[in-house]
Amino acid sequence: MASRYHEVYQSWKHDPLGFWKTAAEEIDWVSTGEKVFDPDQGQYGRWYPDWECNTCYNCLDRHVEHGRPGQPALIYDSPITGRTASYTYSELLEEVEAMACVLADHGLVKGDRAIIYMPMIPQAVMAMLACARLGVIHSVVFGGFAANELATRIDDATPKSIIAASCGLEPGRVIAYKPLIDQAIDIARHKPDSCLVFQREELAADLKPGRDHDLGALQAEAVVAGRRIAPVPVKATDPLYILYTSGTTGQPKGVVRDNGGHMVALKWSMKYLYDIQPGEVFWAASDVGWVVGHSYICYAPLLHGCTTVVFEGKPVGTPDAGTFWRVISDHNVVSLFTAPTAFRAIRKEDPAGAFIQQYDLSQFRSLFLAGERADPETVNWAIDQLQVPVIDHWWQTETGWCIVGNPVGLGLLPVKPGSPTVPMPGYDVQVLDDAGHPLGANTLGNIVVQLPLPPGSFPTLWNADKRFFDAYLAEFPGYYKTADAGVIDDDGYLSIMARTDDIINVAGHRLSTGGMEEVLATHPDVAECAVIGIADKLKGQLPCGFVVLKAGVDRSHEEIEKELIKLVRDKIGPVAAFKIAITVDRLPKTRSGKILRGTMRQIADGETWKMPATIDDPAILDEITEALKTHGISV
Ligand code: COA
Ligand code: AMP
Repeated sequence: MASRYHEVYQSWKHDPLGFWKTAAEEIDWVSTGEKVFDPDQGQYGRWYPDWECNTCYNCLDRHVEHGRPGQPALIYDSPITGRTASYTYSELLEEVEAMACVLADHGLVKGDRAIIYMPMIPQAVMAMLACARLGVIHSVVFGGFAANELATRIDDATPKSIIAASCGLEPGRVIAYKPLIDQAIDIARHKPDSCLVFQREELAADLKPGRDHDLGALQAEAVVAGRRIAPVPVKATDPLYILYTSGTTGQPKGVVRDNGGHMVALKWSMKYLYDIQPGEVFWAASDVGWVVGHSYICYAPLLHGCTTVVFEGKPVGTPDAGTFWRVISDHNVVSLFTAPTAFRAIRKEDPAGAFIQQYDLSQFRSLFLAGERADPETVNWAIDQLQVPVIDHWWQTETGWCIVGNPVGLGLLPVKPGSPTVPMPGYDVQVLDDAGHPLGANTLGNIVVQLPLPPGSFPTLWNADKRFFDAYLAEFPGYYKTADAGVIDDDGYLSIMARTDDIINVAGHRLSTGGMEEVLATHPDVAECAVIGIADKLKGQLPCGFVVLKAGVDRSHEEIEKELIKLVRDKIGPVAAFKIAITVDRLPKTRSGKILRGTMRQIADGETWKMPATIDDPAILDEITEALKTHGISV
C-alpha cells in the first residue's frame, strides 16, 4: 500500500487548525470552545482554550458506556513476583473511582498536586487516573531516584499528598520506598499533608500515625461500599501532570502536560502512527516514571480503548531473555514499544534468538523503539529475529509524543536504518546553524521545531515560564530548540546524531552530567570535576567522572573514588549508573578555562580527535588517556 503520509502531512501544513479540529472529534468533550488555538495565550499559544474535558472519563467511563465494559483494560504481568492480574474497563473504573474517593477524603481537589512514587503495579496507573478524574495534577517520580531527587520534586511541585507503594522490586533486592519518602520529606522545605501508602506483600511500610495511611485498605473499603465519584470537568489547558526531566543543572525541569491537547495527540498517534485498533493489546515496556510510561502505558492505550500491559520485570534475568516473547504470546500483544537498550540486553543473552522460537508470536505486528539512538545493528537483529517492521521514532519528555517517526497507520514508508524517518503532522522540523540560519540537506546542525508546538507538547515548565523561554525558545526565535543535533537528508528523513547540551542517555534514561558534577563537587576532597558520557555497548552511554583533589589530600584515590560512586548513588539514585570515578592531577582546559569535555569524550570513545587550538596544556590529554587506561577503559 502506498503511504498516505505525504498527503496527510501536507493537509496539516495547509490547514493546521482544521487538522487539529478534526483530530479533536475523537475525544469526548464536556464543552467545546470557538477557537482551536489561541496564539495570544501562554508562552507560544495554547491549544483548545476554553474547551472542557476530563482525561479519566475519556480513558475509562466512555469505554464502559460504549461497549467495552468487559474488555480487559489493564493486564499486570510481574515475572519478578510471579503474579499476574487483569482488570476489565468496568473493574478498572471501579478501582480508580474508589482511589479517587480516598484522595478526595484526604482533601485533594482540582489543581492540587500529588506525587506518585510507585513501581510498575496497577495501582500506579490507578493513581494517575484517579488524580486525572479529580483534576489533581500528578507528578510521578521514578523509583530509581534517591531521596534527594524526590525532595527536589516535592519542593517544586508542592504536593498535598504523596501516593506511594511500600516497596519496589529489583532483581535480588527489595527497595523499601517508605524510608526514602520519609527522608525526602525531612529534606524538603515543603511538607505534604498526607502520605497514602499501598502496602505490598513483599514488604510493609511503617505508617506514621496522622500523616500516613494504608491506601490499599482504604481503596478496598471504598470498593466494598460501592463508592463512586464523578469526573471533574477541567479546562483543556489545565495541567494533567508534571513530569520532571533532567536539565543542564541539578534542578530538574518540570514539564507540564495539559489535558486536552494531550488526549487529541495521543489518540491520533495510536491510530496513525502505531496502527493500533481499539480492542487490541498494546505494550510499552517502559516504566510509569518516564514519559513513555505516561503516554503509552497509561494514557494512549486507554484513550484508544486498547488493553495495556503493566510489566514489572526486566528484559533479561526475570527469569531469562525470553520474558518479552512470553508476555507477547500470553497476552496477544500486537505491538511492543521499548528502548533499544532492552534489545541489546536480550541479544547479548540470546544472540541466536533461541527463546523467540519457543513462543507463538503470530499476533505480533510491530516493534517500536525510542528513548535513544536505535543502532542499525540492533535494529537489523530485531528484524531478522522477529520478522516484523522495527520502527525507530524520536521524541522527548517535552513533546509527550513522537516528533519524527514512521507512521505505520498511514502506510509504512521505506526504512533507512539509523533514521527515525519523517516529521509527524504538527511538527515542522528544521536544522539551523548556531546563528539560526537554515542549513541545507545533509548538513549537521541544531534540530528545531517551528512554533507553535502541536497539541500534546508542553506549553511551559511548572512555575517557570522564564526558564521555559530561556531554555527552549530564546536561542532560535520562533522555534523550539530540541537540544538534539542532526541532519535531514534529500528525502526529508531526519537522523539524530547527538545532544547539544550536557545530557547523556544511559539505558534510554536521560541524565544530566551537570547534575552529577554538582554532586561530586560536594565531596570535601574534590577541588574540581568533569563528568562525561562514554560509549557503552549495552546502555548506549555510561557516565564517567574525572576529579581533581584538593591540595594536601593524601588519602587513597581508590577509597575516594568509591565514596564518590556512593555519593552519586545516594544523592541521584542507582538509575544514574555512576560507576566510574577517576582521579586525575589536572583537567584539560582551554586558555579561557573551559573544560574540554568533548575532547575527553572522543578520547574515551576511541574516536579520532584533533588537538583543540585553544588548549592550555596539551600534555594533560595524555594524562587523561593514561588515567582511562588504568581504569580499564580501552581508548
Ligand atoms: N527502582 C530502584 N532501582 C532501580 C529501578 C527502580 N525502579 N530501576 C532501575 N534501578 C536500579 C537497578 O537495579 C540498577 O541498580 P544496580 O546499579 O544496583 O545494578 C540501576 O538502577 C541501573 O538500572 P538499569 O539502567 O535498569 O540497569 P540494569 O543493569 O538493571 O538493566 C537493562 C539493564 C538494559 C536491562 C535495563 O536498563 C532496561 O531494561 N532498560 C530498558 C530501558 C527503558 O525501559 N527505558 C525507558 C525509556 S523507553
Ligand atoms: P527523554 O526526554 O528522556 O525521552 O529523552 C529525550 C532524548 O533522548 C532526545 O532528546 C534524544 O537525545 C534521545 N532520543 C530519544 N529518542 C531517540 C531516537 N529515536 N533516536 C535518537 N535519540 C533519541
